[in-house]
Amino acid sequence: MTLLDPSLTKIVLIINLFAVQCLLGVPTDQARIDALLEKMTLAEKVGQMSQYNLGSQDRDVSESDVRNGMVGSFLNAGDRESKQRLQQIAVDESRLGIPLIFGRDVIHGYRTIFPIPLAQSASWNPELVKAAAAVAAREAAQMGIHWTFSPMLDISRDPRWGRIAESPGEDPYLGTLMAKAMVEGYQGNNLDDPNTIAACAKHYVGYGAAEGGRDYNTTWIPEQYLRNVYLRPFKAAVEAGVATVMTGFNDLNGIPASANVFTLRQILRDEWKFNGFVVSDWTSMTEMILHGFCVDTADVALKSAIAGVDMEMVSHSYQMYLEQLVNEGAINIKLIDEMVANILGVKIKLGLFENPYPPAEDKQVLLHADHLSTARQLAAESMVLLKNEGQVLPIQPSVKRIAIIGPLADDGDAQIGTWAPDGRGEDAITPLAAFKVIESANLKIEYVAGLEHPRSTSTSGFRKAVKAVKKADLAFVFVGEDELLSGEAHNRAFLSLPGAQAELIAEIIKTKTPIVLVIMAGRPLTITEYISECEGVIYAWHPGTMGGPALVDLVTGKSQFTARLPVVLPRTVGQIPLYYAHMNTGRPATKDMLGIPQGTPQDPIAYLSYYLDADYTPLFDFGFGLTYSTFEYSKLELSSREMKSGETLTASCTLQNTGNSKAIETAQLYIRDRFGSLTRPVKELIGYQRIELNPGESTRVVFELSESDLAYWKQDLGFGAEAGEFHLMVGSSANDDDLLLSKFNLVTE
Ligand code: NOJ
Repeated sequence: MTLLDPSLTKIVLIINLFAVQCLLGVPTDQARIDALLEKMTLAEKVGQMSQYNLGSQDRDVSESDVRNGMVGSFLNAGDRESKQRLQQIAVDESRLGIPLIFGRDVIHGYRTIFPIPLAQSASWNPELVKAAAAVAAREAAQMGIHWTFSPMLDISRDPRWGRIAESPGEDPYLGTLMAKAMVEGYQGNNLDDPNTIAACAKHYVGYGAAEGGRDYNTTWIPEQYLRNVYLRPFKAAVEAGVATVMTGFNDLNGIPASANVFTLRQILRDEWKFNGFVVSDWTSMTEMILHGFCVDTADVALKSAIAGVDMEMVSHSYQMYLEQLVNEGAINIKLIDEMVANILGVKIKLGLFENPYPPAEDKQVLLHADHLSTARQLAAESMVLLKNEGQVLPIQPSVKRIAIIGPLADDGDAQIGTWAPDGRGEDAITPLAAFKVIESANLKIEYVAGLEHPRSTSTSGFRKAVKAVKKADLAFVFVGEDELLSGEAHNRAFLSLPGAQAELIAEIIKTKTPIVLVIMAGRPLTITEYISECEGVIYAWHPGTMGGPALVDLVTGKSQFTARLPVVLPRTVGQIPLYYAHMNTGRPATKDMLGIPQGTPQDPIAYLSYYLDADYTPLFDFGFGLTYSTFEYSKLELSSREMKSGETLTASCTLQNTGNSKAIETAQLYIRDRFGSLTRPVKELIGYQRIELNPGESTRVVFELSESDLAYWKQDLGFGAEAGEFHLMVGSSANDDDLLLSKFNLVTE
C-alpha cells in the first residue's frame, strides 16, 4: 500500500468533494458567489463592502439601509435581539437576502476573560491558548457574533506602546505559535460550526513598531526586517486559514497600511494566496487624508480599493465614491467583484446563508464552569515567577498571618485588563477574594489597600498598611497599572509605578517582613529599584476573570509556575527599544559594562555600545521564568558538526531537575547565524520544549533541526539559509549565562 503525504491526501479529498458536488448538482462556493454577483447591483456590491458601527457618531445607519442592501457588516451591533432584528431585515427584507456579518472585539475572551494576549504568550502553551480562543468563540457565537477582531499579531519591542498588552510580545517565533493557536481556536475545524467564529489577523502590518511607542505613529521597517520579524505571525495566521485580515493605522515606509499595494496585494494575496477578506481599521482609510497620502475621500476610496481593502470599517469613502469611480472607469468592475467575492466567500464559509441567526439561547454558556476553569489554568500558566529568594514561595506552614497590600489586590476591572468590552469587573475573582477562601484558624489574612487607587498620590493610608505588615509573617504587595493605562492610545513615556506605589513599597520594605511583590500590568514596567529588597516577585499581568484563584493556586503550591517572559523587562525606560534578538554591532558591550548603577554616570569605560548611567542588559531576559525547582543543563551534543542541505541535525542535552519538587522546565533552542549577507541577530528562538521532571530525575532533551530552521530573508531578498558557521544554544532563557553553546557548519552546494 502506498501512503500519501498528508497534504496530498487533503488535495485528493478536496478534488473528490468538488467532483461529488458537481455530480450532485450542489453549487460550489464559487458558483454561489458568481450567481450572487450576477444579480447584484453596483450599489449592493458597495453595500457588502461597508461596515457600520451601530450608533456611530459620524453617520447614522438606519434599518432601511440594511433593507436596501447598503450594509454588509456591523461592528458593535448590540445584544442578541438587536443583531437578530438587523439580520432578519437583511435576510428577509433585502432584495437578495444576503446575511450580515457581525464583528466585535473579542480580544481575550467574551464574558469569561482570559489573561491579556501578552500574558497568554507568557504561557508558551499554544494548546491552552487555542482552548481559550475556542471558549471565547463559543461565548461570542452564543451572542450572535460571527467574527472577532483578533488575534492581534503585532510584534512589539517597545513597552511604552499601550497595545503591547494585546500583542504576542517581541519574538516572531513565539508570535507564529500564538497566531496559529488563536486562529485555530476561534475558527475550529469548520467555520460553519455554530460554536466557531471567523478570526481577524491584525494590524497588518508593522503597527507595533510605532516610533517612540506612540500609538498610530509612523513606522519605518526595511523589507528584510519586515519579512524576518513583523510579517511572520501574519503568514502563520494565513497558513492556519484565518478568514480575515485588518489593516493598521500606521504608515509603513511612507505608505499607509490601508493603501499599501506591496503588503496587501503582493505579499498577502500573490505570495501567501490569502483568500479571505481584508477590512480596514476604524476610519484608517479616511485618515489617509491626514497622513497626507490621499487628497480627498474619493482618493481614499480609489487607493484603498486598488490596494485591496475589501471592507471599510466605520468611514464611508466606499459608500460615497466607489460607484462614481467605477462609472468613471477609474476602477474596473472586475476589481469590485473580486472584493465582494472575498466577503461573500467568508459569509458562505461561516454558513450564514443557512444559519444567519445566533444559536438557541443557552444562559449556561457565558461564564460556564469549564470556561472558568480554562481561564484559571491559563492565568496560572501566564504568571511569571521572577524571584523566589529563600524559597519564600510556596507559602510555608510556618506562615500564620499574611498581609495583603495594594488596591490592585481587589480591583476586578484592573484585573480584567484592556480591550474586554464584554468582560465585567464584578465577574472577576480578585486575589483578595481568593486569599479569603484559604483563610483559616491557622492562617489569618489581613487586607489594607494603603492607597485608594494605584494612581493615587496620597500617603495617608500607609500607616495602616505598615502596621498590618508588621504583624504579618509574609506580605503580598500588589502594585502596577490599572486597566486604563494600557491598550489602544494608552501609551506611557515613563514605565515606573504610577502614583505613590513606589513609596508604599519603600515603607513596607522597612518593616523587614518578607515581601512577595505581585505586579499587575498591561506591559513591562520598570521595577529595578524594588526587587532586590523583596524576597519574591511575580509578574501577574492583567490575568482576567480567574486571576485571583490562579494566583492563590500558585503561591500555595497547588499549581506550578511554568510561565516565561515573552518580552524582556527593561531596567529603565531609556534602554527601549530593548529585545533579545538584537544585532551584535561592530562594538558590542562587554561584561565590564554590567552592573553600572542606574542613573549615575560613570567615566567612559570604553568606546563600546553601552550606557554610562545604566547597565545595557535587561533586568530579566526573554524566556526567563523560575519554577519551584531548579534545573541543570549539561552535555550539549550535536549529531554532527556539519549540516548538509536536505539533512537534519540533532542537538541533545541532559536536563536534570536538581531541586526538591516536580516541575516543568521550558528548554529553549536558539541559533545564531555567525556570518550572513545581512548582519544577523545574536540569537533567535527556533524551538522549545516543556518538560516535566521529578526531583533528581534527568532526561535527554532532543531537538531536530533542518535547513529551513536556519532560513531567513537575505540581502538579495531571497529566502533561504546561507552556508557557514552557526551557533546553537540550549537553555532556560535568552540570557547567555543560562545557555549551553555548540557550533556547526551549514554546507550547501
Ligand atoms: C480600532 C482598533 O485599532 C482595532 O484593533 C479594533 O478591532 C477596531 N477599532 C474595532 O473596534
